[in-house]
Amino acid sequence: MANIYNNLNLIDLNDFPVNWWTGLLDKAHDIMSDPAAYSESCKGKIMGTLFYEPSTRTQMSFQTAMLRLGGTIIGFDNPATSSVAKGENIKDTTKIVSGYADIMVMRHPVAGSVKAAALTADCPVINAGDGGHLHPTQTLTDLLTLREEKGTLENLCIGFCGDLKNGRTVHSLIKAMSCFKGTSFVLISTPELSLPAYVKTFLSASGHSYKEVSSLDDAVGMLDVLYMTRIQRERFSSPEEYEKQKGCYILDNKKMAKAKDSMIVLHPLPRVDEIAIEVDDDPRAMYFKQAKYGMYVRMALILTMLEESTMKVPLITGRAHKHQICSNPLCITHKETYLPHYFRGDSTMLECEYCDERTLVE
Ligand code: NCD
Repeated sequence: MANIYNNLNLIDLNDFPVNWWTGLLDKAHDIMSDPAAYSESCKGKIMGTLFYEPSTRTQMSFQTAMLRLGGTIIGFDNPATSSVAKGENIKDTTKIVSGYADIMVMRHPVAGSVKAAALTADCPVINAGDGGHLHPTQTLTDLLTLREEKGTLENLCIGFCGDLKNGRTVHSLIKAMSCFKGTSFVLISTPELSLPAYVKTFLSASGHSYKEVSSLDDAVGMLDVLYMTRIQRERFSSPEEYEKQKGCYILDNKKMAKAKDSMIVLHPLPRVDEIAIEVDDDPRAMYFKQAKYGMYVRMALILTMLEESTMKVPLITGRAHKHQICSNPLCITHKETYLPHYFRGDSTMLECEYCDERTLVE
């Protein structure tokens, strides 16, 4: 089956070549050095922000990014005040808004939901987080932070700590960093919160070395970058399951004393208790600066996506299977049942086009 295209969408950073990402980082760098030069770059353009899930940084940094480019914004940050509360499906809501706006940014609690919207949207769609799956614009933020603060994206030893199972920022950043030479990965989590199989498969296929450990204390000394994450309470199947994992990793000054002087600490934020407040005063704590970099890289992204109207990136590369269903109960195809069931792969192993989960065919 031929690839299915629609507008230029950003669903997964790995759908684009690495030089496209680095081009965005270059543009973000230029914007940072002279923001005034870009203040009318998107004059007359409208961005829709559809946030079905809570957000502070991602939503506001997208909105300020568009305002700083001279454009305007529409949208909702609480689906309860839109027709979603009346039972409207994703397809209808996003179809309508994409007819009003020139570019649309969407966050939703279900994996694969943003790709589902992009299939029928009338304007470019940017994934601002789809359930526990991916968060490509946080990854652009992280990459810009690494390049500005470490001076390179190569030969870095990066430790991911916390909820590696449900943390979409972790999944996206691991997929991105596995495209750079010499990255080594240290995955620090409890067995219950370890990385999903599809991300591990991706990592192994990239040929990079990775190790899984459970002690932050033991790992911190070997890292160039420590990426801390929150335990994602809202993605646990029960409050009891969350209680068992809560507070399992806390970075404090005692642990920071074991780290290299050149190590930097990143966190997508919000923080709950995984970084003690005392660490904020350590010059290696980069998370607040990181959040600001996010605004500049989103300016670069909006600008680029509105300019590159001729670039083609396929949304679907597999084919529709009439009777096959995705094995991931948290996939959008189980909630929005009108969606065609698209899978990549052969007759024995199918990979869902929406959530990337692999399903064995019997
Ligand atoms: C993250 C997210 O929403 O996935 N936050 C963000 O976008 N900066 C991380 C989180 O919620 O823990």
